[in-house]
Amino acid sequence: MVSNHTETSVVVIGGGVSGLTLATLLRKSGVACAVLERRDRAYVEVRQRAGVVEARAVRMFERWGLADKLLGGPVAQTIDYRVNGVGRIFNLGGDNAAQGRFCTQQMLVNNLLRELIDGMGGDVRFSVADVTIQNDGDGRPRVGYSDSQGSHAIVCDYIVGCDGDRGVSRASIPDGVLTSYSHEFGYAWLAALVEAPVTGHPIMGVSDHGFVAQLPRGPQRSRYYLQCALSDGPEDWPDTRIWDEIRLRLDDDRIENAVVHDKDFVPLRSVVHAPMQYRNLFLAGDAAHLVPPTGAKGMNLALYDVDVLAEALLSAVRDQNRTALDRYSDTVLPHIWTYQDFSVWMTDTMHDAGDPALHGEFRRRTARARLDTLFDSPAAAGLHTDYQRGVV
Ligand code: FAD
Ligand code: PHB
Repeated sequence: MVSNHTETSVVVIGGGVSGLTLATLLRKSGVACAVLERRDRAYVEVRQRAGVVEARAVRMFERWGLADKLLGGPVAQTIDYRVNGVGRIFNLGGDNAAQGRFCTQQMLVNNLLRELIDGMGGDVRFSVADVTIQNDGDGRPRVGYSDSQGSHAIVCDYIVGCDGDRGVSRASIPDGVLTSYSHEFGYAWLAALVEAPVTGHPIMGVSDHGFVAQLPRGPQRSRYYLQCALSDGPEDWPDTRIWDEIRLRLDDDRIENAVVHDKDFVPLRSVVHAPMQYRNLFLAGDAAHLVPPTGAKGMNLALYDVDVLAEALLSAVRDQNRTALDRYSDTVLPHIWTYQDFSVWMTDTMHDAGDPALHGEFRRRTARARLDTLFDSPAAAGLHTDYQRGVV
């Protein structure tokens, strides 16, 4: 077995959307950086997840000169809010409004991989295992890992944990440093990628039988979300049941069965771990916080974190000024809490307004009134639009 030692400025653990974006921003700015990813490239390229890049993130990529290379997909203009099959179209903004994109996470990740590795010659090491972190303040930080060639160590100045909720980065921080704030909603979503496009507007559907949504995934496919029990798994949801429930919840018998490519079960939770840094280790994206997918903010929060962190790392590495880095957590947390609030509001509204078995008839009526307010009150609609677009 070979044992290698190398050196770089920043080690990023996790090659998902946050890790790859951060590495691309750093590499573009001339900062040496290595990404360690436990999966192989083919797996990362096909992993299905979020579907909306909000306007704030579009502007971020424009600011870094990367929007043309990284973003695609149609502009997000409308949502069809259905209640037991009856739709009302909500307009997300006029011609001059800041525009988000229905750009899937998968499309963004693929473009990042192409730009970072194939375009810029970036250092992304796939299929790594046994990642260890030494960040005790004695000397420079050090990250160890193993791969098919043997064991390796990278000495660096900064480590960024972009390795999701179950990664090693947050787990390496000593007990007592972080406080975790969390809320469980008590239900899950079945996310099903199907071979049938969105033909009208993207749908967010309230129904007496539970929540249903249909969001675009390119010209031929869409992703349906169906509220389900936390304990549900693939054995509870054969394809025939998926299509029966979609027809029932959208009250539309004309919807035909199509191929279901994959099924993912996502428990709805809200979590924040604070502070998002310890010595020379910084957390970004799902490693630091989770939001329920209802508000489409998970990927966007991850992009916000790495935008702030990239600027702070640039000041530290290029100008030897650590001020922004030391303030990283304090800078991003207010925005994270604002988006947590929006995601809870959206999740409660869309689910409480549905099956009264969830939280009772009283909560159902208040949630439906809240939904009505979006269409009746320009002030409520304006605020909702701003959150959806990501300009708050
Ligand atoms: P991730 O995209 O999770 O990337 C983390 C990376 O770290 C992964 O590539 C992982 O392989 C790697 N990694 C983990 N541990 C290690 C380790 N020890 N060493 C090295 N690498 C490691 N949002 C929506 O809006 N709609 C959705 O439908 C939706 N579905 C989701 C489904 C799932 C299962 C999950 C987990 C999230 C979903 N989200 C969804 C939220 C959104 O996709 C996330 O907020 C977003 O992926 C966060 O990006 P990230 O880069 O921080 O984490
Ligand atoms: C998605 O495409 O995954 C998505 C879009 C909008 C939402 C939620 C999820 O509000």
